[in-house]
Amino acid sequence: MNTHLKMEPSNYHPEWVESRTRFITNYFNHDLTNKTVLELGAFNGDIGGNLAKLGARITSAEGRKQNLLLGRRRYPKHNWMHVDLDVEEWAFDEKYDIIIHFGVLYHLKNPDFYLREAQKRCNHFFLESEVLDNSDKEITNIRPSNYTESEGACGQGLNCECQLSTRYIENRLTNFKRFDLEELNGGMHYYNWESKNDNSYKLGRRRFWVCGGQSR
Ligand SMILES: C[S@@+](CC[C@H](N)C(=O)[O-])C[C@H]1O[C@@H](n2cnc3c(N)ncnc32)[C@H](O)[C@@H]1O
Repeated sequence: MNTHLKMEPSNYHPEWVESRTRFITNYFNHDLTNKTVLELGAFNGDIGGNLAKLGARITSAEGRKQNLLLGRRRYPKHNWMHVDLDVEEWAFDEKYDIIIHFGVLYHLKNPDFYLREAQKRCNHFFLESEVLDNSDKEITNIRPSNYTESEGACGQGLNCECQLSTRYIENRLTNFKRFDLEELNGGMHYYNWESKNDNSYKLGRRRFWVCGGQSR
């Protein structure tokens, strides 16, 4: 069993890729043999690529063609799928051991669909997102993104950018545990912060949840 996984060097927020990947590998005691993993909004596939080293079989879903093409070159063994997660239609297999929903909720016009449907279709659901700091009220601020495929560098949402309050997200999670842990922090992204319930939204300030399965 490989307990000292050497991470694939990522050119996209490497410390953050590493901290979240380590959380998952620790969660499964460094053994992902034959686990089926669906990664939503996979970018170039580095998180899945590291899990594959521990035996997982990876499906990487990405909405931007140029990310998918690069990802396919980096990780040709992944099952790459070009999917817009705003389309309310389940595009994948019926069941996975693990679904990873990292860094994409706040880019969606229809955040509810894949949040709800993914939880039904896996044993372990890993979610993380930036949040609007309110644990009492459901708040959604959705605005169009300026992104076009040719521009590439604008906000990462294909169709919009979206701010959701902690309450909004947690009202849609089943059997969840939240991890406000320093060990998840990486680069500009952090999880160990105290809520003030002041409706603020800050770049890099995030929450992390696991739904279903065993607790840590
Ligand atoms: C902030 S990056 C997160 C990458 C990776 N999941 C991570 O957490 O390190 C957001 C990713 O979601 C993708 N994305 C944005 N909107 C999407 C949509 N509607 N459907 C599918 N992917 C989308 C972007 O192209 C980008 O790869």
